[in-house]
Amino acid sequence: MSRIVYVNGRYVPYAQAAVHVEDRGFQFADAIYEVCEVRGGQLIDEARHMARLARSLGELEIALPMSGPALAHVMRQVIRRNRVRDGLVYLQVTRGAAPREFYFPGPDVSPTVVCLARPVSTARLAAAALNGIAVKSMPDIRWQRCDIKTVMLLPACLAKEAARKDGAREAWFVDADGCVTEGASSNAWIVDHDGSVITRQLGTDILPGVTRATLRDVLGEERMPLIERPFRLTEAYAAREAFITSATQTVMPVVRIDGRQIGDGRPGPVTQRLRLKFHQIAAISSA
Ligand code: PDD
Repeated sequence: MSRIVYVNGRYVPYAQAAVHVEDRGFQFADAIYEVCEVRGGQLIDEARHMARLARSLGELEIALPMSGPALAHVMRQVIRRNRVRDGLVYLQVTRGAAPREFYFPGPDVSPTVVCLARPVSTARLAAAALNGIAVKSMPDIRWQRCDIKTVMLLPACLAKEAARKDGAREAWFVDADGCVTEGASSNAWIVDHDGSVITRQLGTDILPGVTRATLRDVLGEERMPLIERPFRLTEAYAAREAFITSATQTVMPVVRIDGRQIGDGRPGPVTQRLRLKFHQIAAISSA
């Protein structure tokens, strides 16, 4: 079966899917995106992802390319046409294509919209969750509006590549005060020795993760204590448990940071419980 991609109003074969060479997403990273989990053919936390998409667009003054229902329709078509049962749907909106000029183009230039879907191996994810993953810390060299989900992801690519060379799957960014901000493509969490779950508070220095928001609901439901504050990398080394959250990995245990074993080096009970509970609380909408 050939893969199908949505580009600016058309569903086209993967090999033919293209945007203009002067697209501002390509030239300036003047674009935002969303990644939503597809599970059992259904969309997870769609409303929260769409709300964040609208916010990202608003912060950059990019016009909403189409109505919410129209976007929802495109995502479903792409999922169906690619027969994705478990995987992800990726939606990107750029400010559009125009002769290279830093100023925003006029209202005659419409946003570029791309949507693709692809399967993700649930077996591989489950295996990673069973053993836990390693992370590597890296200085946070990103800009000061990390709350906007832009495609300006070079620092994340550099950090993840450095992590991979060290045998780690994710990088954790560390600010000038020695505190962990978030993962290169995930939010960062630890569990302290009292069993409190700790993650950095929302601000312009981290992405307001949708999985993070839903996990707050899970913690509330489970009556488990949550503390939102910065935590130092040294505190993470000494934590009882650590984990990351993202749409593609939900709750993923971290068992090593910078080569140091976390807890007993195995996924901890709090992390495992949260991973198990996550999909019982997350909003599910049919695709
Ligand atoms: N990344 N922080 C960063 C920097 C991210 O890139 C992501 C998601 C998250 C988690 O957000 P959410 O729970 O809404 O997925 C936090 C996506 C999955 C990606 O870029 O592929």
